[in-house]
Amino acid sequence: MAKNKDNKRKMSGGKSTEPARSWRKQNTKGEEDNTRLMDERVKTARGRKISSTLWLRRQLNDPYVKKAKAKGYRSRAAFKLIELDEKFKLLKPGAIIVDLGSAPGSWTQIALTTKPGRIIGIDILPVEPFPGAEIIEMDFMSNDAPQVLMNMLDDGTGLMRADLVMSDLAANTTGHRQTDHLRTVALVEAAADFAVQVLRPGGAFISKVFQGGAQLNLLNMLNHNFQTVRHAKPKASRDGSPEMYLVAKGFHGRSNKP
Ligand SMILES: C[S@@+](CC[C@H](N)C(=O)[O-])C[C@H]1O[C@@H](n2cnc3c(N)ncnc32)[C@H](O)[C@@H]1O
Repeated sequence: MAKNKDNKRKMSGGKSTEPARSWRKQNTKGEEDNTRLMDERVKTARGRKISSTLWLRRQLNDPYVKKAKAKGYRSRAAFKLIELDEKFKLLKPGAIIVDLGSAPGSWTQIALTTKPGRIIGIDILPVEPFPGAEIIEMDFMSNDAPQVLMNMLDDGTGLMRADLVMSDLAANTTGHRQTDHLRTVALVEAAADFAVQVLRPGGAFISKVFQGGAQLNLLNMLNHNFQTVRHAKPKASRDGSPEMYLVAKGFHGRSNKP
C-alpha cells in the first residue's frame, strides 16, 4: 500500500526531461493481478515472496513492458491510453486534461505528445516532474483534493472547462475481496463525480473500472450526463485481468440535472 500522505500537497513540474527508467519498484497498484508462468526465469528468487517472484517474471516477459522501455515510456499503461485514444479520439491539441492517478506518469507522457493546453494531475505517490504538466502529490480521496484541483483549473473566471478527465486510479489490493471491491468502486465514483463538476460541455471522461464494468448507479449517472458511454478493454490490458475502461463522451453540461 502506498504510504498515505493524506492532505499532503506537493507540486511537480518543470525540471526533469529524463526518459524512462525504473520509476518504481512497487507492484502496479492493483492494476492487474493475473499471473502466467513465463519462459524467462527470475534469477535470484531466494528470499523473495512467491507473488513478487511471479510478478517480476511476468514483467520480464511482458512485451508491453519491453516496448515501453524501448520507447522511453514510464510504464506499459501508456499503451492502454494510446489504444483508447485511437478508438475514441480523446486527446486533442489545446485540450485541458486532468489525469487522476498519474504515477509514474505514462498517461501524462502520452497526453503531452498531443500538445494539450494544460495537464493537471494528482497521485498519492510522487511523480517525476514533466515540463508542461502540473502534478500534485495528494490523496484524491481526501476531502479537499477536488477543490485543490478545481482551484488549479480555475482560469480566473470561476468556470470549469476541462476537456478530458482521465482516471487510471487503482487502489492497492489488500487481498480482502470485498474491501478491494469497495475501495475501487469508491475511487471510480469519486472520479466520475469530479468529472461532471469540471468538464466543459462536450468533454469526455475515461476511467479504469474493475469486475465487469461500472456499477449500475454510476452507469445511470453517466448515461444521463454524457451522449455515449462505452466499456473498452485495450489489448495492453492483460487477458484475465478484471480491469477495463469506461469511456464517456459528449458531456451535456452542468445544467443537465436529473
Ligand atoms: C495504475 S496506476 C496509474 C498509472 C498511470 N496512468 C500511468 O500511466 O503511469 C494507479 C495510480 O493510482 C494511484 N492512486 C490510487 N489511489 C489513489 C488516491 N486515493 N489518490 C491519488 N492517487 C491514487 C496510485 O498511487 C497509482 O499510481
